[in-house]
Amino acid sequence: MNVLKLGVAAVAIGVLVAVGGCYVAPILLAPRLSVQVNAADPALIEKGRYIAQASDCVACHTAPGGKAFAGGLAMKTPIGTIYSTNITPDKDTGIGSYDFADFERAVRHGIRKDGAPLYPAMPYVSYAVLTDEDVQALYAYFVSAVQPVAQQNQASTIPWPQNMRQPLVWWQMLFGGHHRFTTPEGATPEVARGAYIVEGAGHCGACHTPRGIAFQEVALTDGAGGEFLSGSELEGWYAKDLRHEDSGLAGWSQQDIADFVKTGRNARTAAFGSMADVVEHSTQHLSDADAAAVAAYLVSRAPRPGHTASAPQMVDTTSAKLLDSADHSPGALGYVAYCAACHRLNGQGTARIFPALAGNSVVAAENASSLIQVTLAGGAMARTPADKMRPSMPELAKLDDKTIADILTFVRSSWGNKASPVAPGDVAAMRGEIAGKPDDYVPAKVN
Ligand code: HEC
Ligand code: HEC
Ligand code: HEC
Repeated sequence: MNVLKLGVAAVAIGVLVAVGGCYVAPILLAPRLSVQVNAADPALIEKGRYIAQASDCVACHTAPGGKAFAGGLAMKTPIGTIYSTNITPDKDTGIGSYDFADFERAVRHGIRKDGAPLYPAMPYVSYAVLTDEDVQALYAYFVSAVQPVAQQNQASTIPWPQNMRQPLVWWQMLFGGHHRFTTPEGATPEVARGAYIVEGAGHCGACHTPRGIAFQEVALTDGAGGEFLSGSELEGWYAKDLRHEDSGLAGWSQQDIADFVKTGRNARTAAFGSMADVVEHSTQHLSDADAAAVAAYLVSRAPRPGHTASAPQMVDTTSAKLLDSADHSPGALGYVAYCAACHRLNGQGTARIFPALAGNSVVAAENASSLIQVTLAGGAMARTPADKMRPSMPELAKLDDKTIADILTFVRSSWGNKASPVAPGDVAAMRGEIAGKPDDYVPAKVN
């Protein structure tokens, strides 16, 4: 009896602590700042515009065809669809009533004005490292330069009880943000600046770092295990390893990376899928110095244990056979029929127009999802002022699963590429993934 009473008391205390913690934690972890921001300062507003672009706020907070920053973009999660919110300065439906303290808590700590925690679909775990000055500039930009739009937020389709927000506070305590930026050891000022952009505004890790069982990014900064930026899959796109290692960017020079970030292309490859979106809305607006800093930081990332710092050796025995019509395998024939017109028999494509498939780090990535999805759904390069022409990749969903699997297996094992085969089942699974996306959430094609 006494034991039972004790048990009941323990549970009751546990519940009290759990529920109470939900209310106390935000106050302890993210106290309201009392800073006056001169939101009318033109220099501060311009700085804020730059950081907003580097942070890609517009990508998530704008629905296709909708008004900028008015929210409503559908994002699918395993438990339901959530919608981004209206962050225009409209008083009733947007963040017009947010003061700087409210804004700072939302952006750096994921806490809404009413104290409720935000879903981690909003990358506050990355934005947590933004400096005070940068968040103040963002605030000035949003309240002074963004057009207010009256548009109600849409409720998520996540059912009760999973839709209760308070328990998310525990997630936030374990995994979320609340950390500050620390300069990587021994970093030059350029590398340090690059680290700040990659970890913070650029939130590159949100897509490129693997996630754990609680959907948390397994590393928010580079550490001994080298998990940061080691590759992850999101919405059927494989945002690949960006470390300076064999399966990463070992074959890329600092200039290759800077070109890719600024223009969405370099001599060998082009951004596609969700990365084309990132370049178009965000990274192309980085200053040359910041793009170079991002690149300097990435080339300085050490390989993970078990990886080497050099790109795989390429020995091309494929081109000669194709030129001689000597390979009659279904994959080779399919490649010649459906791909070679653009990507060429030698797999080299044409610089800045058709990406090379030979020695392409995406093509030879262990995870073939990006490859399968771009073949099924097609893609268009990011639009930037650097190139007049914006070539696109046709969607080839009309080809059957076996044909696509054969072609991709051929591509992944030709011209010196060495990657595992693609099975027809992988192609079928990707068709399912594409069909299951919310109608309005497909950065597969940049419009
Ligand atoms: C990857 C997508 C994504 C990006 C990038 C993003 N957000 Fe969000 N944001 C969201 C989602 C989704 C929500 C709603 C989350 C929820 O309801 O819990 C949200 C919520 C917010 C809120 C809370 C508003 C409210 O009252 O509901 C603010 C403020 C906000 N974002 C500002 C920003 C700013 C500023 C940036 C750029 C620095 C930004 N967001 C970038 C997805 C994003
Ligand atoms: C919304 C998700 C997302 C975000 C955020 C993102 N990426 Fe990507 N990235 C991808 C995907 C998906 C790919 C694979 C498609 C491709 O190669 O274009 C990719 C590819 C790349 C590649 C080409 C890799 C290769 O081997 O071809 C580079 C370089 C890159 N990203 C850099 C960055 C940097 C730097 C940032 C942060 C400033 C960033 N990405 C942020 C999704 C993202
Ligand atoms: C009409 C020309 C054309 C044809 C035909 C074509 N592609 Fe592409 N492909 C492109 C263009 C342009 C891109 C860049 C798309 C982007 O950046 O969004 C591309 C991108 C790709 C990529 C991503 C590589 C990278 O680094 O950007 C792969 C993989 C690919 N194509 C494979 C194929 C395969 C396999 C076939 C045949 C089944 C094929 N393509 C047929 C033009 C073509």
